[in-house]
Amino acid sequence: MTLFPQLLQARLTEALTSLDAELPEGFRVDVSQSTDARFGDYQSNSAMVLAKRLKKNPRELAQAAVDAGTWGGLCEPPEIAGPGFINFTISPKVLEGHTLSIFRDAHLGVPQADPAETVVIDFSAPNVAKPMHIGHIRSTFIGDALSRIARFLGHRVITDNHIGDWGTQFGMIIYGWKKHLNKAALQEDAIRELLRIYREVNSEAKADEAILQACRDELVNLQQGDPTNHAIWKETVELSLEQLRGVYDWLGISFDHYLGESFYNDQLGPLVDDLLEKGLAEESDGAICMFFRDIPALEEKPAIIRKSDGGYNYATTDLATIDHRVATWKADQIWYVVGAPQQLHFQQIFEATKRRGHDVRMTHVAHGSILGKDRKLMKTRSGDNVQLLDVLQEAVERARKIIEEKNPTLSEDEKRDIAEAIGLGAVKYAELSQHRMTDYIFSWDKMLSFQGNTAPYLINAYVRTRSIFRKLGEEVSFPDTITLEEDGERTLAMKLSQFGEIVPDLLNDFRPNLLANYLYELAQSFHSFWEKCPVLKSEGATRASRLLLCELTSRVLKQGLDLLGIRVTERM
Ligand code: ARG
Repeated sequence: MTLFPQLLQARLTEALTSLDAELPEGFRVDVSQSTDARFGDYQSNSAMVLAKRLKKNPRELAQAAVDAGTWGGLCEPPEIAGPGFINFTISPKVLEGHTLSIFRDAHLGVPQADPAETVVIDFSAPNVAKPMHIGHIRSTFIGDALSRIARFLGHRVITDNHIGDWGTQFGMIIYGWKKHLNKAALQEDAIRELLRIYREVNSEAKADEAILQACRDELVNLQQGDPTNHAIWKETVELSLEQLRGVYDWLGISFDHYLGESFYNDQLGPLVDDLLEKGLAEESDGAICMFFRDIPALEEKPAIIRKSDGGYNYATTDLATIDHRVATWKADQIWYVVGAPQQLHFQQIFEATKRRGHDVRMTHVAHGSILGKDRKLMKTRSGDNVQLLDVLQEAVERARKIIEEKNPTLSEDEKRDIAEAIGLGAVKYAELSQHRMTDYIFSWDKMLSFQGNTAPYLINAYVRTRSIFRKLGEEVSFPDTITLEEDGERTLAMKLSQFGEIVPDLLNDFRPNLLANYLYELAQSFHSFWEKCPVLKSEGATRASRLLLCELTSRVLKQGLDLLGIRVTERM
């Protein structure tokens, strides 16, 4: 499916070329969506840019291009505005035809990626034996949305949860397991019990050096393969994973793989030996390091890949992980959805990977933090991390109260289902409607409001489209031609056609928030269409066209929200 900006770009390029025979090197005609409907559907500043380079008058050049171009079968004769903008309005017939073809397209007008690539997405990745906390919202939801978007665009996506299942925390957990474990509590809620023993040992170790040493010994024993410690480790990981999976299921998030840090243990020794042999790593103060002396930002920041005590660390594991992803999955790209504080780590491993000769493009899709009302990192009253599960449960409970008020006659099952869709959707949407680098304040009132740029508002817009068809009662057969006469119809059709322009753009710089904004604007266009253009009371071709617009809006809203990992309901 070819999009309007590309078609306009081709026409304008042709027009400009015919004037000047050859356009200067590196000059590309640019066409973008108009920011204001008064200036048509699309606009270009290219005549101005070109005029500057050719030292010509911009308005005259724009006029000459408009005069020289052929516009029939695409848009009205373009208009010139201001210092030399060219404004385009798509012809009614063309927009009608395009709307129909989107309606018939399984991808709703979204062109498929060319070439399709194998993309490994590394996200969520909590450290096990600790519950996920509110901070995990960002990586988890952004990563899930990116994987849905990339799949929809036709990429081969592999999601891999690189859980932290081999950290130093296991020294304390094993020590605590042996000394303080309450088996019944473990059965009841494994992660809570593991967190309890971890906290207890942590404070004991702070007060008593001997206990700290005992924990270190337990860790060394684990690393050296002591069977008891290994069995305890294995059980804690399994119990934690079981609970993690429960949370992901509830959120509608799935991973193709859970290859945690421990999966790479056997490969770390050989990897370091290989780096030494190739001269890519060297000894420094007893540790083995990779230096990046030629990279200014990393000049004094070597990556330690084997500590002086012989232990390996986070960076070593990440290098082994890349080997696996390239060798086994043939990854073309790897995206790491991880908080901004790990920027240095990723700079190092990306640079190291380049030196090792892997041909894979890697991106750190960084994100900011979630803040409380006081603009500080969100904590509970006792100063602990706010647990993710508590947040999600509260969201669903709050949504439930709102549903009870709005629509008390719904059945119990429906209420539960809708509260879940709205509650979880609200938390996801609050995250995904922000630029990923923005630190945002977590606000229940804002995210659960039915007004404004929120999940409830968008789900409600979808429900409205469905209620039209329920009221209609009969099977609708959609027409083969449509007419767009009123402004409300035209604006809505134009907005719908832009779904295909927005979605591919989301992966430029990884911004699902652009999709959120788009869906919000679409819902607004739908509401004003709905107010100005009666659907059920209209007749004949007008009614058929309007019903088609309603149906297409419904599909785009549902698909768009699905790309954000948000589920719609048929009623609310
Ligand atoms: N477990 C890590 C943490 O909690 C995140 C892992 C991110 N992925 C990676 N391949 N390093 O900070």
